[in-house]
Amino acid sequence: MSKKKIFIFLLAVIMVFSIAGCSKQDKLVKIQEAGKIVLGTSADYPPYEFHKEIDGKDQIVGFDIEIAKAIAEDLGVELEIKDMKFEGLLAALAGDKIDFIVSGMTPTPERAKSVDFSKEYYVEEQKLLIRKADADKIKTIDDLEGLRIGAQKATVQEEIANGIEGAADVKLLAKITDLVLELSNDKIDAIVLPKPVAIAYAESNPNLFAPEISFGRQDGVAIAVAKGNPELVEAINQTLDRLIEEGKIDEFIAEATKLAEE
Ligand code: ARG
Repeated sequence: MSKKKIFIFLLAVIMVFSIAGCSKQDKLVKIQEAGKIVLGTSADYPPYEFHKEIDGKDQIVGFDIEIAKAIAEDLGVELEIKDMKFEGLLAALAGDKIDFIVSGMTPTPERAKSVDFSKEYYVEEQKLLIRKADADKIKTIDDLEGLRIGAQKATVQEEIANGIEGAADVKLLAKITDLVLELSNDKIDAIVLPKPVAIAYAESNPNLFAPEISFGRQDGVAIAVAKGNPELVEAINQTLDRLIEEGKIDEFIAEATKLAEE
């Protein structure tokens, strides 16, 4: 090989390695360079994340949002919120449309195949939302026999609904707000929801009721980021540690619960 050819060859090798190096750069660096972090969430899950009119403006609020704000603040960047269907969150993360998911998401082994999770920051107990008029009729899980059950698509609640023995039908919708409408309009009879979400919807819809019926299941929730970004996961865990230590998460939950009931 001539000197010139060797030079060109070496140049090509360097270029290939630097491109590969760039694509492997931790997302944390990109976020800091961009000066903002983009949150993906499904804002139909009070008190975690929900729409609320404040000062005449529609806003997305909730304890997940406060956690996301604290993460952005610790990173020294702006927070941008994208509200989407829960079933679309993992694809949005894989497609680089969002930087992280804070949406009451349970770190299931199945999901952990495609994304990385932070530590768990909350545990939800799966319960039900029904019509108040049915409160005397639906008192145990067995009473769900022959009834139409609703759940949000692509959630652990979908799995629970599918496991209810003798259910007449399982209706899956992308947004919980639509399921709540179906319940109010007598199109379904019960929605599988975590306790705080069921209570929040019952508070804001006087015709609905959150009975003391539990599926006896505890599901943790965590924050998801695209695979292979250990520095971003570490930064998020540090903020979570700080919030847990300072008792802030409980504070955020109490505030969001109040806000959801107003
Ligand atoms: N914890 C459940 C899951 O991960 C439901 C989460 C739904 N979140 C929402 N914002 N609607 O499957």
